[in-house]
Amino acid sequence: MSTPSTLTQDELKTLVGQAALQYVTPGEIVGVGTGSTVNKFIDALASMKDQIRGAVSSSVASTERLRALGIPVFDANEVEALSVYIDGADEIDSRGHMVKGGGAALTREKIVAALARTFVCIADESKRVDVLGRFPLPVEVIPMAAAQIARRFAALGGTATVRMREGAPLVTDNGQHILDVTGLQITDPLAFESDVSQWPGVVTVGVFAHQKASVCLLGTAQGVQTLR
Ligand code: 5RP
Repeated sequence: MSTPSTLTQDELKTLVGQAALQYVTPGEIVGVGTGSTVNKFIDALASMKDQIRGAVSSSVASTERLRALGIPVFDANEVEALSVYIDGADEIDSRGHMVKGGGAALTREKIVAALARTFVCIADESKRVDVLGRFPLPVEVIPMAAAQIARRFAALGGTATVRMREGAPLVTDNGQHILDVTGLQITDPLAFESDVSQWPGVVTVGVFAHQKASVCLLGTAQGVQTLR
């Protein structure tokens, strides 16, 4: 690996993925998020697979990766509570509020995060922002409500676009679509999340303020910084 000041984004993700192991309690089930940073964590978690009971996963992709490494995956309904949920973010502010859903897994991520006492966010320093809204905000929607919801975002100054894959709307693990919304400045993430979550047809908005990070392991040129 390169020296700290020359670490690539991929190496920073590896660093924070490995650093997150310190939050995994032997004998327990761990909540696992989705994305390229979490993939590094899953790979690291394989080194202690004989010490944990298994994982609750937030996506089909993470489930497949966990199982391929021999880590048992439990259904969220089999678990009453988790000590820790470990996941990445597309943006995180100084208070631990996040934008998530770049990997289209935001609904299951919010469900698993809600089971956990501690949310450990793992991210490289490019994800740190002062105000949420630079990254297009993912919103999972019921397809028949997409145009209506897009008009509501337009009234807030945003522009919503249906996320496409191979020429057709992307279909999430839950069978729904994703709107990506640009042009927003989310200065009050708690109020914004509460408000948008009430709109008919919104399955999940990608602002994680009610389920914010308890701690963030941020990969920087100086190494892993722990933000609380
Ligand atoms: C997936 C997510 C991811 O945590 C987020 O997109 C960050 O991904 P990556 O670690 O690949 O940058 O919310 O829905």
